[in-house]
Amino acid sequence: MDKFVIQGGRRLSGTISVSGAKNATLALMPAAMLSSGTSLLHNTPALRDVTTMTSLLRTMGMRIDFRDNLLTLDSAAVNGYEAPYEHVKKMRASIYVLGPLIGRYGRAKVSLPGGCAWGPRPVNLHIEGIRKLGADIRLEGGYIIAKAGRLHGARIHFDVSSVGATGNVMMAAALAKGTTVIENAAMEPEITALAGFLIAMGARIDGSGTNRLEIQGVDALHPADFITIPDRIEAGTFLIAGAITGGNVRLEHVVPEHLSAITSKLEAAGCAIRVGPGSLSLTAPPTLRPVDVTAAVYPGFPTDMQAQWTSLMSVASGTAVVTDSIYFDRFKHVPELTRLGADIELKENSAVIRGVARLAGAKVMSTDLRASASLILAGLVASGTTEVLRVYHIDRGYEAIEKKLQSLGAEISREAGEEF
Ligand code: UD1
Repeated sequence: MDKFVIQGGRRLSGTISVSGAKNATLALMPAAMLSSGTSLLHNTPALRDVTTMTSLLRTMGMRIDFRDNLLTLDSAAVNGYEAPYEHVKKMRASIYVLGPLIGRYGRAKVSLPGGCAWGPRPVNLHIEGIRKLGADIRLEGGYIIAKAGRLHGARIHFDVSSVGATGNVMMAAALAKGTTVIENAAMEPEITALAGFLIAMGARIDGSGTNRLEIQGVDALHPADFITIPDRIEAGTFLIAGAITGGNVRLEHVVPEHLSAITSKLEAAGCAIRVGPGSLSLTAPPTLRPVDVTAAVYPGFPTDMQAQWTSLMSVASGTAVVTDSIYFDRFKHVPELTRLGADIELKENSAVIRGVARLAGAKVMSTDLRASASLILAGLVASGTTEVLRVYHIDRGYEAIEKKLQSLGAEISREAGEEF
């Protein structure tokens, strides 16, 4: 398993281009199954999760080609309706095949994802939503087994705002008979992107980007071309890389509004942010001020940036509290950051971070995607050498992260690592 070796202490400076959004792509790819024919997804990031989704969709008969960030998806020969455990356990987003399969083909067998590295992540809302559209769903042998004739519209109120459940129900409802209303729908930009792709395919969706979606089912969808939105989490991670190293970083190919929750917190920490059309620049202050954040649904501070913020606050000039209101146990990075010299105490779903004057390099272990990003960020500022082990987590969600960091002046290399 590869590892990253980082010599900390370089001030990052320069410009990078942000890749397409992982979480949008993972919804858009299965959505292509809702029509018959060839859809094109431009700006698709080259990521391990995209490869995983590609192999899952291929088992269902999709013909997929990927080159130069252009993904071609041909759904003319779909003839399989099962997402096996082996795929779903690798990547929870595999659950996104449920909506298109039941909506267009009237059958689906999708493994229950189970927990993940930072705790339980149920899919009850996906199941309840699709049941309301008329599907017959039973759970058997660890699988969701769904059958339906043509689905019908329904009024669905989610108790909890869920990105995945909103996406799945929206995809299934696009081909249902009649109107579906989703209340307390997720407003994340990745869901708005999915709605945009579905609309380009001929779906009738109102309220995209709000918490009330109205979907008037249509009889058929056609293939479409779509440009995937930029990855706001990759962008936020690189802004923090600039901030934590006392540097200057400019990002191109971003949607600045998608990053408002992050940039306003960076400004509160003392960073200067300049917004241009499709670009963002950050200049770090000599000393970072401590700033509390609470991860919440969009447009709140993203839970996928919580670990990176914890790293930043580890070197701020005082105490900050980072709370996660979405995933209560998402703090696996904390013991690893402590190995680098961070002073962090966990209290239920909050991390109390007392900023220290310096972090010092050590070997640390990635436990999940965003935890890995937080360890790389800490390694960039730690004195001496930091080794981040198990980098396969980072390859799930960051395209060529070490190359982009190197282009900003970071001393980071990928090396063959020891096995654990
Ligand atoms: C998506 C993102 C993930 C991000 C998360 C929250 C993708 C591929 N992944 O995950 O990176 O961290 O949004 O922004 O887009 N919940 C239920 N029942 C359900 C579904 C969810 O109780 O059926 C709860 C979850 O436990 C969590 C909350 O709802 O507390 C939000 O989760 P959700 O938005 O569904 O996350 P994902 O779509 O899995």
